[in-house]
Amino acid sequence: MNRRRNPFRATLGATPPVLVGRSDVIEDFALALDEGPGFHERVTLVTGARGVGKTVLLNALEDAAEERVWWVISETATPGFVNRIRDTAYRRMVGHLRENRQRLSAITLGGYALNWEDTEVHRPTTTLRDVLTEFLDLQHQLDERFHQEPVGLLITLDELHYSVSDEVIDFGTVIQHLVRENANIAVAMAGIPAAIKPLLASNEAQNPVTFLRRANRVELGAVSDEDVAIGLVKPVEDAGRSWEPEAVAAAVAACGGYPFMIQLVGQWSFHYAQGDVIDLAAAERGIAKAQRKLGQLVHEPALADLSDVDRTYLAAMARDDGPSRTADIAERLRVSPQYANQYRRRLMDAEMIRPVKTGYVDFELPYMRDYLREHIVTDAFDLVLGEDEQPRLPGL
Ligand SMILES: Nc1ncnc2c1ncn2[C@@H]1O[C@H](COP(=O)(O)OP(=O)(O)O)[C@@H](O)[C@H]1O
Ligand SMILES: [Mg+2]
Repeated sequence: MNRRRNPFRATLGATPPVLVGRSDVIEDFALALDEGPGFHERVTLVTGARGVGKTVLLNALEDAAEERVWWVISETATPGFVNRIRDTAYRRMVGHLRENRQRLSAITLGGYALNWEDTEVHRPTTTLRDVLTEFLDLQHQLDERFHQEPVGLLITLDELHYSVSDEVIDFGTVIQHLVRENANIAVAMAGIPAAIKPLLASNEAQNPVTFLRRANRVELGAVSDEDVAIGLVKPVEDAGRSWEPEAVAAAVAACGGYPFMIQLVGQWSFHYAQGDVIDLAAAERGIAKAQRKLGQLVHEPALADLSDVDRTYLAAMARDDGPSRTADIAERLRVSPQYANQYRRRLMDAEMIRPVKTGYVDFELPYMRDYLREHIVTDAFDLVLGEDEQPRLPGL
């Protein structure tokens, strides 16, 4: 049996062996880096469900920046991220100054060469804007001095969430200033729609997050079956193996365009192959395993955080083949529309569902419907009222 290493990467955040279906986004972004300040794509906001590939897309955008010898700061939007970006920029700026100390002392650079130690002393009061402005100025002067391609700074911010909206506002204000000053900077942010929508929807008179609204919006969704096939076949061929045609057809169908499934189906089909060829039997075992894994890795943890009533609402939705009418859900739950609306809002906050059109909701996560149908919803879907008069599914 061939023991060659499994090429797939079925882990959230892990860059896949072949990143499919995202080359347009990456090329547009890279072009904006090359074209200079002012290009719209230089501030990009990526949205999409869990497992659709936001993080690995940010990684690819970072690669594009690094290929251009740009500076890259990579952060996650958890509390304190603004100061973390400031500190990283600061450390690297000072590091950069130290590296270039000899070079700098030989030339006149707006006083930076003389003052670099002072910067360290003044650190506690230094804001993100101060640090970035100084850093970009210095870099600009170096570019001019050495007649080199302008070196910019890319900041990526993953898992953007409205719970840190104050910091997002601070960050946005700084970026907006720098963009207005034509700084050589780019920002790529990502988050799930439910976490970003409240940020975009803010109705304040002077909405401080206009920079988010103006950002180049990339809504990541399913990739085409052709791309799924490439994502499944190329890594296997590169590993010196192959798929039987029926096996790859079954695998592509099972992925339904969902990038995380490419890695899961690929990984497990590869694993179950007896020899150098992945046959239909191996693919079918791989698909079944991938679906269970997706349930474990994505659906189960998401459901575990919810209350019984919330799960019941989702189970009621799973009876529909597409988006559910909220009025129908209320009826199925035998509660008033107002009462059902409370669950709906809670589930939206929990990023489990999203409104699709007026009066309709759909699952945020791909395959959630299937998971619920298999694990919670039974054919004899029958609601019972608990002692607290709340609807329950039998067995929940
Ligand atoms: N375009 C793609 N082609 C192939 N695999 C992908 C693609 N995008 C994501 N993946 C895989 O899907 C999984 C989830 O990607 P990730 O970026 O963590 O999703 P998100 O950040 O949106 O939750 C990872 O295993 C990754 O390797
Ligand atoms: Mg992610």
